[in-house]
Amino acid sequence: MQAFELRNKTGLGAVSLVERKDPQPGPEQVLIQMRAAALNPRDLLVLNGSLYPTLRLPLVPLSDGVGHVMAVGEKVTRVKPGDRVAGIFVQHWLSGEAPEHALSLGGEMDGVLARQVVLPQDGVVPVPTYLTDEEAATLPCAAVTAWNALMVQGNLKPGATVLIQGTGGVSLFALQFARMAGARVIVISSSDEKLERARQLGAEQTIHYKRTPDWELETLKLTDGRGVDHVVEVGGAGTLSRSINAVRAGGHISLIGILSGINTEISLRPILRKQIRIQGIYVGSRSMFEAMNRAIELHKLKPVIDRVFPFEEALDSFGYLEKANHVGKVCLRF
Ligand SMILES: NC(=O)c1ccc[n+]([C@@H]2O[C@H](COP(=O)([O-])OP(=O)(O)OC[C@H]3O[C@@H](n4cnc5c(N)ncnc54)[C@H](OP(=O)(O)O)[C@@H]3O)[C@@H](O)[C@H]2O)c1
Repeated sequence: MQAFELRNKTGLGAVSLVERKDPQPGPEQVLIQMRAAALNPRDLLVLNGSLYPTLRLPLVPLSDGVGHVMAVGEKVTRVKPGDRVAGIFVQHWLSGEAPEHALSLGGEMDGVLARQVVLPQDGVVPVPTYLTDEEAATLPCAAVTAWNALMVQGNLKPGATVLIQGTGGVSLFALQFARMAGARVIVISSSDEKLERARQLGAEQTIHYKRTPDWELETLKLTDGRGVDHVVEVGGAGTLSRSINAVRAGGHISLIGILSGINTEISLRPILRKQIRIQGIYVGSRSMFEAMNRAIELHKLKPVIDRVFPFEEALDSFGYLEKANHVGKVCLRF
């Protein structure tokens, strides 16, 4: 069977399509015929070696994918052949607190950019039936992260105001979940077209963060000086201090992304004075994924997909994601 492998060095040039032995499921494992996958910025960091300097190579990249169960080991009870499943991002985080050392797909262990994949039965979840394969493939990382940030750690309530940074995968799931929960959404983005898309998805107010670099002041105006209840923080070092100013006293910031850098100096005073909660998020558990799927199924939420590439063009899809012109998710069809 075919798989993409990151070979004995890192970088996109070190990824190649190889023939591998057909995998066989062990007693508690499932064999999955992959149908679709979705990309995350994290995959680019894995490929260029910056996320895991001591990566075990060769590595099959990508965390997010969906396929049909082809065969199961004799002790498997959770799924059966024919079921459509996705792998969970941290394979052994089933519920409760995160494990100290994460074993994630396409990182510490082989991922899903292969025509066939074997995973432990505990490491898969059935996905909502009405979604296409590509739509379902977007769920394991970006959607679970947004769900954990707002619905689990954020305990989002109807009527709350959420500030969402950007229009990428995590941000648009956060927008859709916030609307689903009856919250008001303010989106900031670098593009008028993307802001229009955000409004179509239910954003009440939008701010162009390049034209209005002090968007936190605009956010305060839009909330009558009070500030927002939640911030979905994907910018990282370059945006956190603005988010701290934009959030209300007692508000909540989900620290998710590091798109504008990882090291920063921030004033601690407003965090203390306003008693803000800044919560680090690392995707989420299987039970969060399952709860999210129930909500998605009930509300018939449709993930926003920007573009789908064929499996063979996986390398082009990475280059496309790197350009960051997308809205929502970039996917692969197998
Ligand atoms: N902690 C976790 O568990 C977790 C899980 C998933 C992702 N992440 C991280 O979260 C970040 C976003 O992931 P993603 O999948 O949503 O990425 P994505 O699909 O590539 O979207 C990124 C978007 O962020 C926006 N952005 C970039 N720089 C910004 C800035 N300075 N201010 C405001 N917005 C900015 C851009 O929106 P516009 O184009 O609209 O300007 C961009 O399109 C990445 O750093 C990723 O690694 C973390």
